Amino acid sequence: MTANSNASAGILSVLHETRLFSPPPEFSATAHIKSLDHYRELYRQSVESPEKFWGRQAEAELVWSKRWDEVLQWEEPFARWFVGGQLNVSVNCLDRHLGTPAANRAALIWEGEPASDDKPGEERTLTYQQLHHEVCRFANVLKRNGLKAGDRVIIYLPMVPEAAIAMLACTRIGAIHSVVFGGFSAQSVADRIHDSTAKMVLTADGGFRRGAVVALKRNVDDALKLTDSHGNLLAQTVEKVIVLRRAALEALPMEPGRDVWWHEELSKVDAHCPAEPMDSEAPLFILYTSGSTGKPKGIFHTTGGYLLGAKLTSRYVFDLRDTDVYWCTADVGWVTGHTYVVYGPLANGATSFMYEGAPNHPEPDRFWRIVEKYGITILYTAPTAIRAFMKWGEAWPRKHDLSSLRLLGTVGEPINPEAWMWYHKIIGGARCPIVDTWWQTETGTIMITPLPGATPTKPGSATLPFFGVVPEVVDDQCQPVPRNTGGKLVIRKPWPSMLRGLWGDPRRYEQVYWSDVRGSYFTGDGCRQDEDGYFWIVGRIDDVLNVAGHRIGTAEVESALVSYPSVAEAAVVGRPDEMKGQALVAFVTLKTGVRPSPDLRQQLRDHVAKEIGAIAKPDDIRFAEALPKTRSGKIMRRLLKQVAAGTEIKGDTTTLEDLNVLARLTASSDE
Ligand code: PRX
Repeated sequence: MTANSNASAGILSVLHETRLFSPPPEFSATAHIKSLDHYRELYRQSVESPEKFWGRQAEAELVWSKRWDEVLQWEEPFARWFVGGQLNVSVNCLDRHLGTPAANRAALIWEGEPASDDKPGEERTLTYQQLHHEVCRFANVLKRNGLKAGDRVIIYLPMVPEAAIAMLACTRIGAIHSVVFGGFSAQSVADRIHDSTAKMVLTADGGFRRGAVVALKRNVDDALKLTDSHGNLLAQTVEKVIVLRRAALEALPMEPGRDVWWHEELSKVDAHCPAEPMDSEAPLFILYTSGSTGKPKGIFHTTGGYLLGAKLTSRYVFDLRDTDVYWCTADVGWVTGHTYVVYGPLANGATSFMYEGAPNHPEPDRFWRIVEKYGITILYTAPTAIRAFMKWGEAWPRKHDLSSLRLLGTVGEPINPEAWMWYHKIIGGARCPIVDTWWQTETGTIMITPLPGATPTKPGSATLPFFGVVPEVVDDQCQPVPRNTGGKLVIRKPWPSMLRGLWGDPRRYEQVYWSDVRGSYFTGDGCRQDEDGYFWIVGRIDDVLNVAGHRIGTAEVESALVSYPSVAEAAVVGRPDEMKGQALVAFVTLKTGVRPSPDLRQQLRDHVAKEIGAIAKPDDIRFAEALPKTRSGKIMRRLLKQVAAGTEIKGDTTTLEDLNVLARLTASSDE
């Protein structure tokens, strides 16, 4: 079974899957949404009278310090939700649970990476009461160090409770956080500081990853020294760096006046920190993600609409209840970690489990040990992880009692039906519903998903839209396509947790998302709707690849390659990969006089890791004498994709400038 997409020749979807799994009756009996009819009725209300629906939800679900005047102001493509309202995210995630039975419930349960199976990782549990205390103290640290409402702050931390504490502390005082994944390089940190003009960086001496220490503070030091092409410091707006001691690295240089220790600062403050009432439309966070041009996009979300979406989707999609121990395995550096490790679960008073380490360190049963030990009831992970578990073999999960699990989820890329079935049988014991959730950094929250007590599932389909979401599949002329025909996935109506723009660049926001299909938000994904109205995502149709569940812009990798002195030109395309979904293949031409070599290949991979981060390293680098181009000079990626995949070259080559280039490329691809 394969799924295929090709933007210019229309989108082909050839996945045929007929298995249907109804929600188990015992699950539906106690679920928040118990039947498809119940879902359909609520969905109908949400799209027929969205303002009434969302106004009612906002009133019931969130604590406001000032009520809004208007539910929605919509001037395409700019939305404002709950206009005039004021609230604070940390109040909604913490204070509101104090004085209720949730106060002494675990908000976060954390386990650090173990050194070995005999040396388990550290464990910490923070109740809502304790988390509130820690967030208030750290919010006072931020204030003491000069951070104010509206200021931007970079969070570059490992998966430790302090990452969540830092995010919530920012929201308490109204500062805008931008979390940078710990796997990104100094250059990426500098670029993000520069784009967001951040005043402060929160980091750690180091983080643990598969037994090694990632030197985060050193990367920050390097980032703060980097310059642009005019010799100006990229990160010149940074005034303070607050450093968490995590890895106990010896002799860490601290710059006087700029760098301070987290624990020393905490000793100087108390835990009294009134929350700042924030405008519903005040920016909450910026998260950078790959686009189809070289420059990452600073997607920003605002306060009221985002929080409402995070809370409602968490409750209904994961059917959250007080007794759950819910584990979303995403790092807080990604949007999934924002919405479904921190804000969504905490707004619901749920228990969110956080793990610092990798799934196969020290052994490939790490996740299953955790499920057994903590009695995890809901597990939310990525298809790429599931495929890795399949490869390591079912003996590892079989060693553990996984009977506490009652619900499974996936996110990040299409899940192939084989992986879905394995997850269902081996992890879920054929008893747990699976929610395959489609959404994006831009959408803020889950958009297309089963509701586990209501929606019959089909392996590989994200099924039906969440409340208030109006997706449609259209052709290149923006016309809706018939059922079972591939097309572009668009969203027809604004929704509360939608991105409000690209930081500092409203024009690019309009151009990237709202110019392709008039009157609609364009997702960049290809999709098909089947005879039951179920949505089947077939993957990206722009020049963005999905590698192991992470979006990587080919242009970004290309510009990193071209910045290496011996490279003349580079083109990066995707090749289907069993484990990662897609692998990155780079075609590189060298400057005159430079000879290809295995060493150079390694240097280029290291260079990309330095420029962007290890996640963007090409899996394969092929040196070419020239790249296939159209007569107008455009690189013919369609042909390169076929060369990369080793498939027969098909389709029109009449615009190709020099046919010999292609012949040489296919011949050289075996080297
Ligand atoms: O292509 C879709 C894919 O991941 C993209 C969004 O990536 P990102 O912003 O990094 O967010 C990932 C986590 C929300 C989408 O445009 N994608 C995400 N979830 C699914 C998916 N593709 C198919 N099925 C999914 N469930």
